[in-house]
Amino acid sequence: QRKNVILGIESSCDESAAAIYDSERGLLAHALHSQVALHADYGGVVPELASRDHIRKTLPLVERVIAEAGTPELTGIAYTRGPGLVGALLVGASIAAGLGMSRNLPVLGVHHMEGHLLSPMLEDDAPDFPFVALLVSGGHTLLVKVDGVGRYRLLGQSLDDAVGEAFDKCAKMLGLGYPGGPALAALAAEGRRDAHAFPRPMLKRPGLDFSFSGLKTAVMLAVKAAPDTRAAAADIAASFEQAVVDTLVAKCARALKASDARRLVVAGGVGANRCLRAALADRAARDGFSIHFPRAEFCTDNAAMIALVGSLRASEMKRGIAPAEAAARWPLDTL
Ligand code: KG4
Ligand code: ZN
Repeated sequence: QRKNVILGIESSCDESAAAIYDSERGLLAHALHSQVALHADYGGVVPELASRDHIRKTLPLVERVIAEAGTPELTGIAYTRGPGLVGALLVGASIAAGLGMSRNLPVLGVHHMEGHLLSPMLEDDAPDFPFVALLVSGGHTLLVKVDGVGRYRLLGQSLDDAVGEAFDKCAKMLGLGYPGGPALAALAAEGRRDAHAFPRPMLKRPGLDFSFSGLKTAVMLAVKAAPDTRAAAADIAASFEQAVVDTLVAKCARALKASDARRLVVAGGVGANRCLRAALADRAARDGFSIHFPRAEFCTDNAAMIALVGSLRASEMKRGIAPAEAAARWPLDTL
């Protein structure tokens, strides 16, 4: 493949981001603006506010990474085409299409989840193929077998809430702020992990799908029955966290066995959870697989992973007047 230098743009949810990836030198620059503070008062992402903020923040981030990378000769533009919030996606798509037109550069719409799946390749100790990826964030809970670029097999997914969403909802029940995952994890450190016998959803059944709504209901009932003290809240938080971690670890181990892979990649915001990391490391030592955690800034939404996918798929880029195209829903297995 010819040398390429790709500008990546991400705007699928509540982070605006831009990055430049060079096929020979690697990541040259990346920048991000998080909208967490903007949505905090609403307890979740407000799509209209997200779109408006992307309009304000994305282009300045693009200009910043171009300058930080030393104004390189770009050879193409990759943007997140989906899945995500359609209004938010259209901002990145429009900017990519406009820049493509004005700079006469080819453009490619990238699948956001492919970015997450390949994000460990941004690191020096990139895992070899094949690997199993566990993607756990506020929007997704997936287990995917990755055999190579463009070769993805969905092994399992959540049938209802995403893991991060379950953390956020339980945090809200316990009166913690948004996004509540980190706050709940901090409170859990003070609690007893066996205080409540919460369900380990779908562990007894075969298969690799997840479900977190039953666990969420169990937590709600426990919150209603418990005294309004910090110790009681900490016990609920710790027992909830343990139930989630047990479930994720067991499914990862099962996925590795079923797919004959020896490497596990963990990405997404929930991958920052210390209890999960420790439990996975234990299991990895016992079962004999390796674990790869991309660094935190590449675990959560970012444009470096989008620029990377653009670089790997540079031959698919289209020149000419690219329409600003987005797909709110876009199944991974159609890639
Ligand atoms: O990947 P991410 O930053 O954004 C998207 O959802 O796209 O993931 C955010 C999610 C939130 O639900 C947040 O509560 C959760 O990850 N999270 C955590 C922790 N840090 C972030 N959940 C549990 N423990 C954590 N330490
Ligand atoms: Zn994401």
